[in-house]
Amino acid sequence: MGGWGTGPTIFIESIRNALIFNSTIPSSDEPTARSPASTQLLFGYSPSDLIVPSIVLLVCAALAYFVYRRSQEASSSSASSKKSKKTSRKANESLLNEASIVNQMSVVGIDFGNLNTVVAVARNRGIDVITNEVSNRSTPSLVSFGEKQRYLGESAKTQEISNFKSTVAGLKRLIGRSFEDPDVLALEQKFVNCKLVEGERGDVAAHVTYQNESRTFSMTQVAAMFFGQVKDFTSKEIKTQCTDVVLSCPGWFSDRQRRAMLDAAEISGLNVLRIMNDLTASALGYGITKTDLPDQSLDEKVKPRTVVFVDMGNSSYQVSVVQFVKGKLTVKSTAYDRNLGGRDFDEVIVDHYVTEFNKKYKMDIRANPKALFRLRQGVEKVKKILSANSVTMLNIECLLDDKDVSAEVHRAEFLEWIKPLMARLKGPLDQAMADAGISTADVDFVELVGGSTRLAAVKEFLGEYFQGPKGENKISTTLNLDEAVARGCALQCAMISPVFKVREFTVQDWNHYPISLSWDAALVPATKTGEAGVSHMEAFGIGNAIPSNKGLTLTRKLPEAELAENNGHVKFEVEAKYDAAAKTRGLPHVPQDWIGKFTITGIKKLSGDPNAAGDGIAKATIKVKARLDANNLIVVDGAQQIEEVLVAEEPEKKDDAAMETDDKPKEVSAAQLAASGGGPPTKMKRVTRKHDLRIVVLTAGASRELVKEWHALEGEMNATDRLVIDTAEKRNQLEEYVYYAREKLDMAWSDFITDADRTTFSSELNEMEDWLYGDGEDATKSVFVEKLSALKKKGDPVAARYLQADERPRAEKLFREFANNVLINLSAEDDRYSHIAPADLEKVKKETNDKLKWLNDSISKVNDQPKHVNPVVTVEQINLERDSLMYFVNPILNKPKPAPKVEEKPAEEAAAETDNLGNTKEAATEEGKKEEQNMDVD
Ligand SMILES: Nc1ncnc2c1ncn2[C@@H]1O[C@H](COP(=O)(O)OP(=O)(O)OP(=O)(O)O)[C@@H](O)[C@H]1O
Ligand SMILES: [Mg+2]
Repeated sequence: MGGWGTGPTIFIESIRNALIFNSTIPSSDEPTARSPASTQLLFGYSPSDLIVPSIVLLVCAALAYFVYRRSQEASSSSASSKKSKKTSRKANESLLNEASIVNQMSVVGIDFGNLNTVVAVARNRGIDVITNEVSNRSTPSLVSFGEKQRYLGESAKTQEISNFKSTVAGLKRLIGRSFEDPDVLALEQKFVNCKLVEGERGDVAAHVTYQNESRTFSMTQVAAMFFGQVKDFTSKEIKTQCTDVVLSCPGWFSDRQRRAMLDAAEISGLNVLRIMNDLTASALGYGITKTDLPDQSLDEKVKPRTVVFVDMGNSSYQVSVVQFVKGKLTVKSTAYDRNLGGRDFDEVIVDHYVTEFNKKYKMDIRANPKALFRLRQGVEKVKKILSANSVTMLNIECLLDDKDVSAEVHRAEFLEWIKPLMARLKGPLDQAMADAGISTADVDFVELVGGSTRLAAVKEFLGEYFQGPKGENKISTTLNLDEAVARGCALQCAMISPVFKVREFTVQDWNHYPISLSWDAALVPATKTGEAGVSHMEAFGIGNAIPSNKGLTLTRKLPEAELAENNGHVKFEVEAKYDAAAKTRGLPHVPQDWIGKFTITGIKKLSGDPNAAGDGIAKATIKVKARLDANNLIVVDGAQQIEEVLVAEEPEKKDDAAMETDDKPKEVSAAQLAASGGGPPTKMKRVTRKHDLRIVVLTAGASRELVKEWHALEGEMNATDRLVIDTAEKRNQLEEYVYYAREKLDMAWSDFITDADRTTFSSELNEMEDWLYGDGEDATKSVFVEKLSALKKKGDPVAARYLQADERPRAEKLFREFANNVLINLSAEDDRYSHIAPADLEKVKKETNDKLKWLNDSISKVNDQPKHVNPVVTVEQINLERDSLMYFVNPILNKPKPAPKVEEKPAEEAAAETDNLGNTKEAATEEGKKEEQNMDVD
């Protein structure tokens, strides 16, 4: 994480996240691990070089960007001198504009919500939440499958009732969930209108009707469809392709769920730079905007600021205790109730009115899923109103059997009904406090996130829970509770992006589920004779910092028979699993608690390995590098076989040898010497050699082949959607033209077409209208295009004649004005053209009169023509003739007058005529001449 500071610096102007991207590129001796080439490329310029054309800079920055993308997974490094930072900032100030163009490449944060998805982007030196295609700041997380196309986001919302069984909700809840998870049918199905079934790989899938066929799509695919829509409207809004994003997810998401999100993003064409826990994103947005955080560089003992973040959205309840010091946030604990959110509060009201309406109106709402859904919608509105009012009405028209229902709902009774839910708020808070090792007295502020924290009861409860000794309310409202997560993600994206310079801020997250690594005990030598070898170890326990690295040293037996069977090479499988304790911390069902398998291959018997001499069975020492990465995913990305050999020390080559070894040279005994082959008594040293091993990774994510297949299918469906949309557009154009032409034929165009043609054209338009609503309903795009062009072939000449007649008077007027002006000027009785040869003036006069005659003749011919015939002279020809007259006349008439002859005067007299500004009268005359020359005859 330390390396993040090498990215952009954001200086906070105000609490609303107005950020100034002060500097864009790190200094040359402060390389960013993610973009080493960008550093070199852009810092090849000295300050004086900064006048280099902006295009060069853009190319460099773009190159840097691509290099960064390739090195995205590289680890960060940040150590550098303060002096060099200063120099780099200075040098970069002038690069701001160029860099900010590159910045628009795509720095996007997505809060993928169960109900609503919010998108924020870094731009205009700040973070903006963007609006979707219908100008809403949040987009329903829905996908609907229609007869011809899919409807995504907002358009899916409008289909939700009419296309009830093929509209999929709960994408976030169901992505990466196994169908055998008991929650799926018992809890989630009731909030999703389509049927949930088991898909490939045992995942949850949606069963829908698409293009009149029964289809099953995995939730990863459905989420990918939705992400595609988010990508489209974001790209339109930022006017560049949206690719790089930071995505949020609840902190309780398992490895399997996170990987499914990554797969979905990949299918949709998004490149996820990081998956960030909802509350960590909110905490980042909070911390980076605070300029008054305790500064431990000034006083090591200063107490960090402790803030508890509480998120209650539509489906879950999350608590996170975070401590802030200047430049860093550390998550100290997290706790969740992953099945407590706004929808559960709706459900208690639903339960009540299902019973009440059954009694009152004799209707079985539960037997009718559509009616139940509409009741849920009505109830949600009621719940929101009760957050600010003590009483409201629940009214639903034609709920069932054409019966309207209504009821008066009081906040007091609502509070009574939700008591069991309210009782569940305390548990996660207590757990978070205990895990962080603090009491509520240590909490400085409580920040709320998520729509359901608007519930008055929830706010009140939290206020009381954290109440200070003097009754102070610690609830603070610094964050925008609907947008904090998306903003935090966009900030994180800006921090990772190499083209932004963001204020240095380190984020250290907290591991919620303990993870172990395990292997086959039979392959590992026993520590004591008769005991089994160790088969597992806790690699990342509860509270382990995220990200973090672990190095493991394992010993594997190398039985001769196994070596012989496998060409002298054997493998060693290490599996990552959740520990049993993860279940008690709310881990969603994960088959066999399995996370991944890492098969280390190419292990062989090494001749110099001292283990070979032990109990007769050779042993290999393997070092494995495991990581809990910033996405909260286990990565095993390095394994080496260690070989220890004794070599004779060569003092003169000591430095070289040291470079290849880990251990300091050791003196060895004569016995050891003898064991190593004997020889003359000389100083020996133990040398460690490392041999890289291959790792084959198997995770809970979809296989590469499956992701590719889904990606291709998504491309096809997307192309179909586009074709359907384009076809509808062409159909609309044809329909519009039919109405437009019919109206024009009756009015403006009526004189410009013969009566007979008008009658035929009108009836053709009528026939086309009938066809559009009949056989043409399902016509293809090309048929609509053909039909429109056939109609236009008839209509366009009429429209053109009408336009000619409409514009001709103006063209004629301009022509006459110019010609008449010329003639008037020529006949003026002054000396304005005295300097022009009379023959030239005569030519001008003749040309003007000739052109005027042409105009008169043409106009009179046109006037003699019937209007339904194409005019003999067009407006364009009239304008051309006027232009040609101007080109002839102007050069002659605008010829400058020669300067009047000035009599030579004695020097004193000339000096006396100098005005008090120092200008001579002659100079003034020159000015006058210039002005004259500039006059045009027009
Ligand atoms: N004024 C209000 N009073 C009570 N509840 C509200 C109010 N406004 C919104 N909500 C509830 O907030 C929930 C939506 O919040 P939000 O948009 O944060 O959820 P989400 O992010 O989509 O869901 P999740 O975080 O669970 O994935 C809904 O259940 C909605 O009824
Ligand atoms: Mg949310």
